Amino acid sequence: MHFSVGFLVIMYLIEGVHSLVEFTNFECELLDRSFCGVEYCRIKSMNRTYKYLSLKVNLFKTPVTDVKVCCEYGLYQRLNGYKPFLYNVTVDACKFLTNQNSHPIFKFIYVFFKHVFNMNHSCPYDHDIIMEKVTAENINHHMTKILPFPKGKYMFKMHWIAYNINRAIIRVYITLT
Ligand SMILES: *[C@@H]1O[C@H](CO)[C@@H](O)[C@H](O)[C@H]1NC(C)=O
Ligand SMILES: *[C@@H]1O[C@H](CO)[C@@H](O)[C@H](O)[C@H]1NC(C)=O
Ligand SMILES: *[C@@H]1O[C@H](CO)[C@@H](O)[C@H](O)[C@H]1NC(C)=O
Repeated sequence: MHFSVGFLVIMYLIEGVHSLVEFTNFECELLDRSFCGVEYCRIKSMNRTYKYLSLKVNLFKTPVTDVKVCCEYGLYQRLNGYKPFLYNVTVDACKFLTNQNSHPIFKFIYVFFKHVFNMNHSCPYDHDIIMEKVTAENINHHMTKILPFPKGKYMFKMHWIAYNINRAIIRVYITLT
């Protein structure tokens, strides 16, 4: 609970509105190739301002019933190396997807991609995981208009844990200008 309050206090203390979120990199690191595989994990650039992220992960041991999916996530501001800015909050995806209000901070992040992410239903998962065309525009709206963040470089890092074993790490790098 004190984490949520701290987060809100930080957000309200930060001043400044920024005009552009840009994706700079997107990485999918597999830690257990017997559990899942990455078919694609990429940034597509239509032009400088219009880029989107797409991801397709194959699950090899379906149905998956215990997914602390976005179990750990971090937002790191790059100052001297990436420093944790928001960090290590574990979310039980199966519980979260049953009741999104159970985790308000994760809900804030989830709105960026829930409409284009086919894991947006409660457990179990017995299909490939697909996230298509997450645009910076959508994140722009939430990050710069709703909660202003200081400009800089960020890394958003998610550990995907199933049955208490870390199976993959996803990193999204963005620049706020
Ligand atoms: C970038 O591409 C998008 C999608 O094709 C288009 O709507 C937008 O006008 C383009 N922007 C520029 C600056 O070319
Ligand atoms: C977050 O958790 C990971 C995995 O448990 C750990 O390696 C990392 O050091 C933690 N980061 C912070 C900022 O506590
Ligand atoms: C879940 O994601 C699919 C696309 O993967 C989309 O068609 C559907 O509308 C989404 N559902 C919700 C509740 O956001």
